Amino acid sequence: MSEYSANLSPSAATGRPRAAKAVIPAAGLATRFLPATKAVPKELLPVVDRPVLQYIVEEATQAGITDVLLITGRGKTAMVDHFDRRPDLEERLAEKPELLAAVKRTEELADIHTRRQPEQLGLGHAVGYAESHVGDEPFAVLLGDEFVKPSEPLLPAMLELQARTGGVVLAFFEVDPAETKRYGIASVEPAEAELTDIGEVVRVTGMVEKPKPEEAPSNLAVLGRYVLPGRIFDAIRRTEPGSGGEIQLTDAMELLRGEGVPVHAIVYRGTRYDTGMPLGYLQTVVQIAAERDDLGTEFRKWLVEFVNSDASGGPNT
Ligand code: UTP
Repeated sequence: MSEYSANLSPSAATGRPRAAKAVIPAAGLATRFLPATKAVPKELLPVVDRPVLQYIVEEATQAGITDVLLITGRGKTAMVDHFDRRPDLEERLAEKPELLAAVKRTEELADIHTRRQPEQLGLGHAVGYAESHVGDEPFAVLLGDEFVKPSEPLLPAMLELQARTGGVVLAFFEVDPAETKRYGIASVEPAEAELTDIGEVVRVTGMVEKPKPEEAPSNLAVLGRYVLPGRIFDAIRRTEPGSGGEIQLTDAMELLRGEGVPVHAIVYRGTRYDTGMPLGYLQTVVQIAAERDDLGTEFRKWLVEFVNSDASGGPNT
């Protein structure tokens, strides 16, 4: 019997274990956010009162993964501090139970491990540093600058799909066809699978980095979530520097696909927040603030007034 299964129906479950570890590559230089990110990692920029990275770790734990490996780099140690204990702070907060609980939550969320990527030679290169922690098992990769709405989770369906196929599982989101040159774009064909509750399953037949709209095979862009088999590490070792002189994860996955490893994706229909550049970050902060139980009502009221005011350059000007 093949190591992989083509049939994606739940009844074809192979008994393979679901990925139990998550890797968060967060060693990048974050040039799109300079100079803010000269000394502060973009993963620690706050979205209301939690850093982006905490939303990402929460996304993993919500999917049942509590073993989290951060790939860090120079100037990024504060990321690890965020999940460390702070007895001095806890002592000061003894009279403020809500704040104390919020601080303790960061410490108890997950088992945080780290590896350092000494040089920023690309996403594939960064993921390669997870090998000694992950071994031969399947694992999830969550990019450190985007996350999805907790009430519309994506990762559980991806983990389930990977356990069924044994291959590579990606996630896509639809972009405006004029915008394809900002993303990795996939060509796909229908998969013999039912809809997951979060989006359609497709089989991936190829991927192109940042194609011009007239050359794009679709408008399906790669989202920063992957569930990969342990074989990816060997493929990364065999991957030459590609686009931008970097060792690309996409190229390593393409190598596996060429060797017969099935590659599927879920076309995610939920809400994705992209905090890797100023506009997406601002949109994320506004959306999440507007939905918060504690400040949403007041914030939305202010936002409407602001947008309609002269000061915003909005409709009244
Ligand atoms: P990005 O392409 O967003 O790169 O990487 P970046 O360096 O973070 O940001 P820009 O493009 O210069 O503004 C996607 C993810 O891969 C990680 C990043 O930290 C981010 O989470 N990454 C990228 C690494 O960990 N190491 C690398 O060498 C490259």
